[in-house]
Amino acid sequence: STVFVSRDSAALACGADAVAAAFVAAGVKVVRTSSRGMMWLEPLVEVEVNGVRHGHGPVAAGEVTDLLAAGLLAGQGPKAIGPVEAHPFLAKQERLIFARAGITDPLSLEQYEAHGGLAGLRAAIADQAGIVGTVTDSGLRGRGGAGFPTGIKWKTVADCPPGQKYIVANADEGDSGTFADRMVMEGDPFCLIEGMVIAGIAVGAEKGFVYLRSEYPHAIEVMNAACAIARDKGLLGDVLGSGHRFDMEIRVGAGAYVCGEETALLESLEGKRGVVRAKPPLPAHKGFMGRPTIVNNVVTLASVPWIMANGAQAYADIGFGRSRGTMPIQIAGNVARGGLFEAGFGLTLGEIVDEIAGGTVTGRPVKAVQVGGPLGAYLARSQFDTPFDYEAFGAQDALIGHAGVVVFDDTADMAHMARFAMEFCAIESCGKCTPCRIGSTRGFETLDKIMAGVNVDANIDLLTDLCETMKFGSLCALGGFTPYPVMSALTHFPEDFRRAAPMAA
Ligand code: NAI
Ligand code: SF4
Repeated sequence: STVFVSRDSAALACGADAVAAAFVAAGVKVVRTSSRGMMWLEPLVEVEVNGVRHGHGPVAAGEVTDLLAAGLLAGQGPKAIGPVEAHPFLAKQERLIFARAGITDPLSLEQYEAHGGLAGLRAAIADQAGIVGTVTDSGLRGRGGAGFPTGIKWKTVADCPPGQKYIVANADEGDSGTFADRMVMEGDPFCLIEGMVIAGIAVGAEKGFVYLRSEYPHAIEVMNAACAIARDKGLLGDVLGSGHRFDMEIRVGAGAYVCGEETALLESLEGKRGVVRAKPPLPAHKGFMGRPTIVNNVVTLASVPWIMANGAQAYADIGFGRSRGTMPIQIAGNVARGGLFEAGFGLTLGEIVDEIAGGTVTGRPVKAVQVGGPLGAYLARSQFDTPFDYEAFGAQDALIGHAGVVVFDDTADMAHMARFAMEFCAIESCGKCTPCRIGSTRGFETLDKIMAGVNVDANIDLLTDLCETMKFGSLCALGGFTPYPVMSALTHFPEDFRRAAPMAA
């Protein structure tokens, strides 16, 4: 008898190691997998019954003996959720990037291949000249947040004269409520490696880096181990004996949010302080060490193997408007069902929050949803019919960013959240430009006055003016996007800014 228990760090945080140890102590074999992304059920324990995985969750170490006695190995008992893939949360998804999540051993290249891995790379090797065209035709756009067409970025690097070029995976996943990059790296590391190798072959780059945040120790461990295995088994080096050379290494950041901005990331990768560079030149022309460099988010690169294996059209057939393919939506905050939901673009925000996430875990009404990280706008219920799509969110003065969705109930004070955005910007600012460096501090000082009831009207005007300056005058998205949470809070929840009794200055 065998059980499957995730070793993804979210599962570990919920006690998966102790649960696994309890099964071993009870004489049950344990296979460690990655997470399915149903975080509210972690630690999720799976068993195979007649060839179908059945789940139990959340399981506590102390109840393992009782659950075994209640028929856990036959899929029975008080924590049984039935066949895992029939669970509505999974059954409604379209998993292209996360097809193997929770199923395979993340560090088994054999299992990776048995579940569809490396087919994209083989197709790429067979048609090197066609890779950039396939990625372009698929409609894939950058999943870090900006949504820039990946094929155009790759073509820019491919068109640079031959010579040293680089592939950099941006794994500095700093947005609040996001964990898709982490789940790819911990759960299916060969998928990222395969995507980077394909990018390398496409543009003539032989060297890659994963810039991985230090806050992800498990991802660092898995990626390092996966690279060693890939090198051993001929996926890296002389790629599958094709004559194409590609190798890569994992570099660990030091905890600065701004190093998720691509030029600050490159500075950091070069061993310097993470300060934003002015663009142009674009990294595609002059990136790492001044050489042409593709900087792509982990999810972008991990989308490529499926596209190469299944064709551009199959990918382009999924999605909404100009947002093609799937997006791993990461649902967090005050929700009944938090986790990773990969689906084609076009679900409405209301479907995501009310149906998929099941509303709040506190049972109170949803007040606001922040989409796109700490620099994303707060959306109110009146905007819940907005489809998940880059352009539709843009039209609402919002962004989907890296697709983190954080839900708040009616106890949230939105003036306080606006202040938090300014304070966050002040702490994380790289200091290179004035609107962000000075503006963020003036911003939370002004919000303090508003929250204390000091000259509220005049200070709201001042704050609005300051937000305009930051939005249009900042060098990068950190200062430029901080106005989104602030102004959306002010626009949709004005009453929260007028709670204090008026006071003279
Ligand atoms: P951007 O719009 O300046 O650039 C997007 C990408 O396209 C960059 O890689 C840029 O180098 C590339 N590019 C632009 N024109 C090009 C051309 N002609 N040829 C080749 N490449 C070209 O946006 P930026 O500043 O890189 O990113 C802003 C986004 O970052 C925001 O939308 C925000 O959602 C997101 N963000 C994500 C975070 C995360 O943790 N994932 C954190 C904070 C912000
Ligand atoms: Fe640095 Fe902020 Fe200016 Fe970006 S906006 S370059 S983080 S000071």
